[in-house]
Amino acid sequence: MKKCAFFLILIIFAYNICLTGCSAFSGSSGSSADEWDAPDEDYLEQLSEQVDDTAEPQGEQKRVGVAMPTKTSERWINDGMNIKAKLETLGYEVDLQYADDDIDLQVSQIESMIRNEVNCLVIASIDSTRLTGVLAQAREAGIAVIAYDRLLMDTDAVSYYATFDNKAVGTLIGTYIADKMKLAEASQAGKSYTIEFFMGSPDDNNAVFLYNGIMEVLKPYLKDGTLICRSGKTDFDETCILRWSEDTAEEICTELINEYYPEGDLDIACSAFDGFAYGILKAWDKKHFPEGVRPLITGQDAEKPAIRNIAEHKMDMTIYKDTRILAQKCVTMVQALLENGEPEINDTTQYNNNVLTVPSFLCDPVVIDADNYEEILIGGGYYTKEQLFD
Ligand code: BGC
Repeated sequence: MKKCAFFLILIIFAYNICLTGCSAFSGSSGSSADEWDAPDEDYLEQLSEQVDDTAEPQGEQKRVGVAMPTKTSERWINDGMNIKAKLETLGYEVDLQYADDDIDLQVSQIESMIRNEVNCLVIASIDSTRLTGVLAQAREAGIAVIAYDRLLMDTDAVSYYATFDNKAVGTLIGTYIADKMKLAEASQAGKSYTIEFFMGSPDDNNAVFLYNGIMEVLKPYLKDGTLICRSGKTDFDETCILRWSEDTAEEICTELINEYYPEGDLDIACSAFDGFAYGILKAWDKKHFPEGVRPLITGQDAEKPAIRNIAEHKMDMTIYKDTRILAQKCVTMVQALLENGEPEINDTTQYNNNVLTVPSFLCDPVVIDADNYEEILIGGGYYTKEQLFD
């Protein structure tokens, strides 16, 4: 137990060092108004080095394999660290692996976890439709599987799903846009605004839920002409961005500006991810529009660079998903599966993976903007002021 506590302290220490040592981010304080903040690759590498994803299973403890998609975004690094730390506190041995957004690599990582006889698998997939074979192997071997954040599609080999309310993420983004732009009043007054959409990866079930949530709020305004999408791309298939790529978002935004908004007259960039917001800001910056001319820009994940951009009024909002809570919910599912307990579930209807409706726990997403980031993120202990601004 003492050994456990010692390792936990080490992990928390390493975690704090990596969170506070974020000076490698492109500086935000003192930067000029048209500079924006995006994650720096060296920093992400530095952060990801703190994750021990090399541990080989040993001893008699129950083992949990945790398969994460990528280290290119802060949130997944935090997710992996949170789950690992919480499971280890409970005495489980954890094999945490990141797959660099490479589907074959994720398959082989899960295969190796199965060979190493883990007792439970926690999987945040890259493209879950490509995991059906390896998930069937897990089922054959009697290994319980939990889908983490992203639903595992087309399989019966999944017991529980821990996620955020993905449709609510979309309705929150849509409602933020509607409120900020006063779309109801604009509609009455016959006023209109331009909008373009940057939606999530087509191989991620979450992206469709999010899109549906956004459209539930914004579709009426597209229909009555209050919102005008000059590219005409409003369907999910036309606006989704494979693997949530920031670079692709930048390319798309550049093309949109060149073709439809050469004067910088795009009012709203409805983006489903902080990474897309960085791409949009890069594309925008290259055009050197007059100061203050920029669209309302949305995001998701409340990454540190996004909060800095919001604080400096270069971006408008993001969605905060407290990954500590998600990790905690997931860990209670692992415990329930391995110790014959009952996990807390709050949704048994929404998440059908084409084979079964997976019992789920949906955590609540929260809107963050310039008015509330201090109270919620700093006040709530998610970030310190120094982590964000030093
Ligand atoms: C997650 C989002 C994240 C996105 C890109 C989605 O599956 O739900 O929180 O922004 O992946 O990593």
